[in-house]
Amino acid sequence: MIVLGLEGTAHTISCGIIDESRILAMESSMYRPKTGGIRPLDAAVHHSEVIDTVISRALEKAKISIHDIDLIGFSMGPGLAPSLRVTATAARTISVLTGKPIIGVNHPLGHIEIGRRVTGAIDPVMLYVSGGNTQVIAHVNGRYRVLGETLDIGIGNMIDKFAREAGIPFPGGPEIEKLAMKGTKLLDLPYSVKGMDTAFSGILTAALQYLKTGQAIEDISYSIQETAFAMLVEVLERALYVSGKDEILMAGGVALNRRLRDMVTNMAREAGIRSYLTDREYCMDNGIMIAQAALLMYKSGVRMSVEETAVNPRFRIDEVDAPWITDASR
Ligand code: ATP
Ligand code: FE2
Repeated sequence: MIVLGLEGTAHTISCGIIDESRILAMESSMYRPKTGGIRPLDAAVHHSEVIDTVISRALEKAKISIHDIDLIGFSMGPGLAPSLRVTATAARTISVLTGKPIIGVNHPLGHIEIGRRVTGAIDPVMLYVSGGNTQVIAHVNGRYRVLGETLDIGIGNMIDKFAREAGIPFPGGPEIEKLAMKGTKLLDLPYSVKGMDTAFSGILTAALQYLKTGQAIEDISYSIQETAFAMLVEVLERALYVSGKDEILMAGGVALNRRLRDMVTNMAREAGIRSYLTDREYCMDNGIMIAQAALLMYKSGVRMSVEETAVNPRFRIDEVDAPWITDASR
């Protein structure tokens, strides 16, 4: 069964094509604002301008025609409403033109399912750390549940905003990581964990204050990483304990950070837990992850009429049944 997945919740529009055993093609285009952060309408204009090229290139790479597709999946939320609408409109158009079924996919579900497919993790606690999201997720009673999450901004967002004020263009994460490697002084920043929830805006405010008072950006970057990542490791450890799972899966753009990966891997080693990192190309937002989740949903019996494909900017993973993980599959 050939599945075409379209992702477009935020800055990246992406088309992925898979079947049960192969990843056939992936084409993406990222909107990069010339100045400042993402403006939702500009991101949507970018997506609408390139989406046809992105899809045609993916089909060419997969050496198939649009009529060979058996199922269309698209990211239904959460995300920026204008971007979501462009993606949904393209998916509906393909579905109506080809007569093939369409399934709207929850975006974090895509991250976890592609992670499971490419790493071999079976039933992990997922640490999902990206621009807009910071969540700890695990499968409990037939659905993926959010055990803990940020109470304010996403960790990537916090890093990007700090970077922007320091004159570093979006996405700031990779550059802050480089600067942090040269930092030596651990500055005091608010460490904010409540149960399995986290908060990052206090770190941002304090870090910007350090910037104003002339502290070295290397030391501030180092301190941001050490503090924020220690918070993530603490909630992850708690989530493992509460859920009784013995695997960790990391996904989202911030999971590309070496220091975070090392901290998580060390904790996992000490706790006797297997830890997996979703491969770099599937870690950030991509169409393959949406195709993979759509495939699992379709096989578990999900069907959607076009009328049921309205986008949902606040769509949560625990609104979706995930019956394909069962006691037998563990
Ligand atoms: P969402 O998944 O919430 O829709 P998103 O589209 O921002 O959000 P991703 O594409 O997964 O998510 O990740 C982008 C984020 O990852 C940005 O905030 C970026 O700064 C961050 N990032 C990328 N590489 C690194 C790195 N090496 N260290 C820290 N952060 C990083
Ligand atoms: Fe994402």
